[in-house]
Amino acid sequence: HHERRPIIAIDGPAGAGKSTLARRLAQRLGFLYIDTGAMYRAVTWRAMQERIDPLDGERLSALTRAVRIRLAPGYQSAFPTRVWVDGEEVTRAVRDEAVSLQVSAVSSHPGVRSELVAQQRRIGEAGGVILDGRDIGTHVFPRAELKIYLTASVEERALRRAEDLKAKGLPIPDIAVLKEQIRSRDNQDMSRAYAPLRKADDAIEVNTDTFTVQDTLDRLLALYRDKVGGG
Ligand code: DC
Repeated sequence: HHERRPIIAIDGPAGAGKSTLARRLAQRLGFLYIDTGAMYRAVTWRAMQERIDPLDGERLSALTRAVRIRLAPGYQSAFPTRVWVDGEEVTRAVRDEAVSLQVSAVSSHPGVRSELVAQQRRIGEAGGVILDGRDIGTHVFPRAELKIYLTASVEERALRRAEDLKAKGLPIPDIAVLKEQIRSRDNQDMSRAYAPLRKADDAIEVNTDTFTVQDTLDRLLALYRDKVGGG
């Protein structure tokens, strides 16, 4: 029987296009979009404010339980989600380079993850939701009706990152530096002990290298109709 609406899980490395696609797919299907990376970024931002050591799992876990995170739809692909921490809007701040450099370390602590995963399950359990992240199909909602593993080459992701920085009016480092940063974040996200980034066995891998956003969106809509029907 149908007690809940479908859940769509979109996982993959940074820069593969998850948030842009998840946001647009949610608009098309009338689903709620939950940007789980924004939640890890929110905790990281607050931890940096409080000068908590990114290796201090105990304090970070307590902080995660105490902090109130609110999300709402964002404006463009550079800011896919609006974020508030304890009532203060931090939409831009959570995308700062300083936060991006620490978020993998902060999100590696089991106590941080278990609290955010519990919140994600509460928000998503009724269905009619799309979540994007690293561990949605493997850990948060292993029974999601549709699981996508979105990928792109390091080269392509570095070029997109350069475009993003340009759109934000920020200085653009050398492409080689961007590639190195991407490789390093991939490594951290894939090699952590607890719920690392990996493709779920039943996830469909979609490479976005040579496709426009619209092409990939159409592909995802077709996969959704195949697997779930309607739409
Ligand atoms: O999707 P993003 O780049 O905004 O995510 C930022 C970081 O948060 C990412 O490097 C790893 C972490 N993250 C995670 O560990 N699990 C998730 N479900 C989402 C993000």
